Amino acid sequence: MDTIDALMTRRSIRAWTADPVPGEQRKTILEAAMNAPSAADARPWHFVTMDDPDIIGRFTTLGGTEMLQHATLLVLVCGEVAREIYPGFWPQDCSCAAQNMQLAAHDLGIGCVWIAVYPLEERVEFCRRVLGVPGEITPFALLAMGVPAESPEPEYRYDPVRLHHNGW
Ligand SMILES: Cc1cc2nc3c(=O)[nH]c(=O)nc-3n(C[C@H](O)[C@H](O)[C@H](O)COP(=O)(O)O)c2cc1C
Repeated sequence: MDTIDALMTRRSIRAWTADPVPGEQRKTILEAAMNAPSAADARPWHFVTMDDPDIIGRFTTLGGTEMLQHATLLVLVCGEVAREIYPGFWPQDCSCAAQNMQLAAHDLGIGCVWIAVYPLEERVEFCRRVLGVPGEITPFALLAMGVPAESPEPEYRYDPVRLHHNGW
């Protein structure tokens, strides 16, 4: 799949089969994450991978996350402020990593959905508690993955009203 095809056909997937995400594909998805751009190339991220059904099951109580019981792989993207070179950019850096993961997963035929964590304080604290994330690290986004059991149609969202040329 070429890059434009991948980003124009990606959709959030919230239903998965029981098949695991093969180890080689996990590695590729995490390589894509860590190849993301970041301000001053600071790479202020960490990733917590989870495939233990008991641990994954804890996240079904976040609210609107019951479907995670069928995810076979969760990745929590976290930010480490101390690694920033220019203060304040870590959420953008972590977003780039998270989006790279979504696109890499799609390219590999793995279904992925981004579950909101930061800046919802109760979710941030929940992730810290369940996974033992240290205080200086901020849980940012939870990516739930697995072999897809649904295939939503691509959507075309280009809207010329949102385009401002040579000024507003
Ligand atoms: C920052 C962010 C937070 C999101 N949080 C959730 C979430 O908590 N639960 C969920 O089911 N989907 C979540 N999503 C997925 C969006 O609902 C989804 O991307 C959007 O509806 C567009 O659909 P698409 O991904 O299929 O193109 C999130 C996406 C982003 C970028």
